[in-house]
Amino acid sequence: MRTQVGIVGAGPAGLLLSHLLHLHGIESVVVESRSRQYVEERVRAGLLEQMTADLLVETGVGARLQREGLVHHGIFLRFGGRSHRIDFDELAGGHTVVIYPQNKVVADLFDARLNAGGQIFFEAQETSIHDFAEAGPGSSLKPKIRFREHGESREIVCDLIAGCDGFHGICRPSIPRDRLAIFDRIYPFGWLGILAEAPPSSPELVYAYHERGFALLSMRSPHLGRLYIQCAPDEDIEKWPDERIWAELHARLATSDGKWTLAEGPVVQKGVTGMRSFVTEPMQCGRLFLAGDAAHIVPPTGAKGLNLAVADVRVLARAIAEYYATGKEGLLQSYSRICLRRVWKVQRFSWWMTSMLHLFETDNAFDRRRQLAELDYVASSRAASQTLAENYVGLPMEWDPPK
Ligand code: APR
Ligand code: PHB
Repeated sequence: MRTQVGIVGAGPAGLLLSHLLHLHGIESVVVESRSRQYVEERVRAGLLEQMTADLLVETGVGARLQREGLVHHGIFLRFGGRSHRIDFDELAGGHTVVIYPQNKVVADLFDARLNAGGQIFFEAQETSIHDFAEAGPGSSLKPKIRFREHGESREIVCDLIAGCDGFHGICRPSIPRDRLAIFDRIYPFGWLGILAEAPPSSPELVYAYHERGFALLSMRSPHLGRLYIQCAPDEDIEKWPDERIWAELHARLATSDGKWTLAEGPVVQKGVTGMRSFVTEPMQCGRLFLAGDAAHIVPPTGAKGLNLAVADVRVLARAIAEYYATGKEGLLQSYSRICLRRVWKVQRFSWWMTSMLHLFETDNAFDRRRQLAELDYVASSRAASQTLAENYVGLPMEWDPPK
């Protein structure tokens, strides 16, 4: 079959790209290795920068987000047993963030695409991509996506391929090794996360630095808490019965005045995630464009993964729209450069939040004092707390005309 844009992966990046292209009148086909149910139920992050939330609303997929999303105007840093609020209204020009789970973003996009007649192949097997490196100006070769559907071979012939198949996908590894540079860092810890049927014990997120390790209190709704503790990168979840997780959360999130209490509730999901920083340069090769986790990974401190994916897709959709409207290659050729400028700033922020808040096994007492001094500085200096706030609510896209 033929289409204009072939998209590999139906995560937030692939689905949003397909949706934005549709709004530009550009046809796309999405190929996804999992079932719709699996993708919709996968527990992922849940915090949207204002720019991400605004884009979903402006493009007509934000009705449920507007009904159910929880708008937050600040976060708490907790260290030395005390809480310090970072106030976005005061420090980030009134920008906010919205708590809304990624799986709902994905479900809303599935509805929009399928209602508009969009084509998504689920449970595709043995996906592979071809002829993208040689395709492009001056070549008659067209990129292709091949896969098997219920045992039958299929081929999609397109003008461009968007590789939106996440960190473990096939698109990035299909690029010849000598045409990519990889930059990465693996952290010596992970996060053990739970979803708990308990009302959140704080109206806003709490990022806690503690001598036992980092803890984060987040939420998914007024009735569902999302909580994390720093753990070993290969932590055995079997060794963490619910009581042990709660005891650790109580210890790490406690305030020294004893006035704050953590409400417990049934744990409905738990898991361990590793932490890494990873960037691919460039994010394109011939007629293949990588977006989202396929191109970069951030550690979850700061909740930037989904937002970075959305920022990539905004740039890519505009570049593809310009290409079809004018035949000009300019924006397409600049895709990687435009994205990477912002990607690296967000990488820096995610690394910085991670470094400031976690215990590193190689750290000594000097490093602990240094981390506490940094937290104290961030909490007490307007300049420092503003730096955190403006990064947290989301940096602007630098090619946007000023509003
Ligand atoms: N063929 C087809 N689809 C694939 C393949 C493949 N070989 N490999 C992976 N996929 C699919 C996955 O099943 C998944 O649905 O690609 C999709 C990638 O989605 P995500 O991993 O969610 O990545 P992305 O869309 O870039 O979203 C950004 O931000 O919050 C973070 O990591 C979190 O998923 C989030 C990401
Ligand atoms: C989440 O709710 O899953 C979450 C929130 C903030 C983070 C990371 C994860 O920094």
